[in-house]
Amino acid sequence: MHSSNLERSDEAHVGFGIDIGGSGIKGARVDLRTGEFIGERIKVATPQPATPTAVADTVATIINQAHWAGPVGITVPSVVRNQQALTAANIDPEWIDCDLSDVFSTAVGGRECAVLNDADAAGLAEVAFGDPRAQQGVVILATLGTGIGSALLTDGTLVPNTELGHLMIQRPRRSGKITLVEAEAYAASSVRQREELSYKKWAKRLSHVLSEYERLFWPDLFILGGGVSRKFDKWGPLLEVDTQVVPARLRNRAGIVGAAMAVNRGIRP
Ligand code: BGC
Repeated sequence: MHSSNLERSDEAHVGFGIDIGGSGIKGARVDLRTGEFIGERIKVATPQPATPTAVADTVATIINQAHWAGPVGITVPSVVRNQQALTAANIDPEWIDCDLSDVFSTAVGGRECAVLNDADAAGLAEVAFGDPRAQQGVVILATLGTGIGSALLTDGTLVPNTELGHLMIQRPRRSGKITLVEAEAYAASSVRQREELSYKKWAKRLSHVLSEYERLFWPDLFILGGGVSRKFDKWGPLLEVDTQVVPARLRNRAGIVGAAMAVNRGIRP
């Protein structure tokens, strides 16, 4: 092990976050004063099937590769309460009721782990290091990826485990009939790719979903994240909502940074 790296992990302003996604598991040291990565981000393909033990082993591989000896923050695409995963919408069903602190701590030699929902982690990171407007009023951050994740913030404080990607939306049909569809099955970024929707068509769907969030939560601001937010200039101006919409600033750093913040601040949903 590199002792210099180990020493660094003892510095109070350095944390380590890991973001578990459907295709990749990514981890990095984070400077908790700036939200920037220290050194390189390590990415390992998500094992298939992505069972809790297989994923926890990959987490251990990343930490070892990074020579990190301190506590670890970890995101999962699942509702997390009392450090237990309660849902598994886009991951292996074995995660349901999984004792997360047990499975991860065991894999990483008993050290401290904090596990939280991926979009919640992104929300924490955006409040701390993103658009200053995220710190005030009611803010909804939505991550647009395989699914739709959400973080609801009031004056910068997170209301954990909102699952707005699973809100049922009334889908208008040409026939005049109205059918119900889950927001993420209608407007996630993966749906745009799968159905080869133009940005215009997809923006219409997303507007429909965001309007529903407006009707129920009356937010002051939407922050939209996920890989597709990189191309925000192509589709952001096409959105038709009353609320101000901005792209997430931390982009693909948000999950890792939020995870590192959570373990550092003792946030354990
Ligand atoms: C899950 C959420 C997660 C989101 C983004 C949804 O399917 O239910 O918990 O935050 O996907 O990964």
